[in-house]
Amino acid sequence: MKVSLTGAAETLLAPLYARALDARSPRPLLGDTTAAALLDTLDYDFSRLGMGEAGAVGVALRARYFDRHVRDFLAAHPSATVLHLGCGLDSRGERIAPGPDVRWYEVDQPDVIELRERLYPPRPGHETVAVSVTDPDWPARIPTDRPVLVVAEGLTMYLSADEGPRMLRGFVDHFPSGEMVFDTYARFAVRSTRSMALFRQTGARLAWGVDDPRELERRVPGLRLIEAASAYATAKGADLSHLPTALRIRLRIDTEVLSRLPLLGRIGHISRYGFGKEGHV
Ligand SMILES: C[S@@+](CC[C@H](N)C(=O)[O-])C[C@H]1O[C@@H](n2cnc3c(N)ncnc32)[C@H](O)[C@@H]1O
Repeated sequence: MKVSLTGAAETLLAPLYARALDARSPRPLLGDTTAAALLDTLDYDFSRLGMGEAGAVGVALRARYFDRHVRDFLAAHPSATVLHLGCGLDSRGERIAPGPDVRWYEVDQPDVIELRERLYPPRPGHETVAVSVTDPDWPARIPTDRPVLVVAEGLTMYLSADEGPRMLRGFVDHFPSGEMVFDTYARFAVRSTRSMALFRQTGARLAWGVDDPRELERRVPGLRLIEAASAYATAKGADLSHLPTALRIRLRIDTEVLSRLPLLGRIGHISRYGFGKEGHV
C-alpha cells in the first residue's frame, strides 16, 4: 500500500519502523508484532527517516513505559474511556487488549485515520476520530460517563505553545475526572531538532516545548502532576544486556550519565497528571 503522508503525519512512520525493528530483533523490548506485519504491507522508503538501532530501542522503551501506565489505569478503572491522541499507526490497542468495558478512541488527523482504517480491521469498543486535536469542538462528541485516560505519545511537540495548553484545558473542562499521560520536549530540544533527518525529510516542525512539567499545572487549572520521568530515565531497569556492546555503551551513557546532567537530563519528560473530583491519584 502506497504511503503518501507528509509533514507531521509522515513522522508516524519513524516510531512504527522503530517498533517493527524491535519486534524483529533477537530479544525484543516491546515485541509489537503488529508493527512488524504492518511494515510489510507499506510501500515506503523507511531508510529516509534516520531511524537506527539505538533510536529503535529508545522508541520501544518509551512505548513500553506508556503501555504500563495505560495498563495500570485500566486495572484501577476497568470501565473507562481511553483517548489515544496522535495515535498514528500505533497498535497500542492490540498490545493492551483492553477489557469489554473500555471505550477506546484512536484520534489523529484525517489523512492518518484514513490510512489506519485501511490497515486495521474494526474492533468492538474501538472507534476512530479523524480530527485535529486542536479543534476545540471534538471532545464534546465523547461521552463523559466514565473516567478518562488521555494518552498522547510523540504528539505535544507538534502543537503550538497556545494550542497545547488549550487542548488540555478542553479535556479538563469536558470530562469530570481522569488522567493524562504524555511526553514533552524541553524548549531547547524542540529548537535543536530542526537539523534531524526526520524533520528535514518530512518537513514537519516541532513547536511546543515544556521545560518543567509543573508549568502545566499553572497553565491548565485543575491539572495535578502525579509523576514525571526524564525521557532518558525511562530506560532504567530495562534489560539492555543482550544488545551489541557499542549500542549498549551508547544507551548507558544516554540513560545513566546524560540524565544526571542538569541540562540534558531535562531534554524531555513523560508526565502523568490527574484532574477532576474523583482524583485518580
Ligand atoms: C511522531 S508521530 C507519533 C505517532 C504515534 N503516537 C506513535 O507513537 O507511533 C506524531 C503523530 O501526531 C499526529 N499529529 C500531529 N499533529 C496533530 C494534530 N494537530 N491533531 C491530531 N494528530 C496530530 C501526527 O499525525 C502523527 O500521527
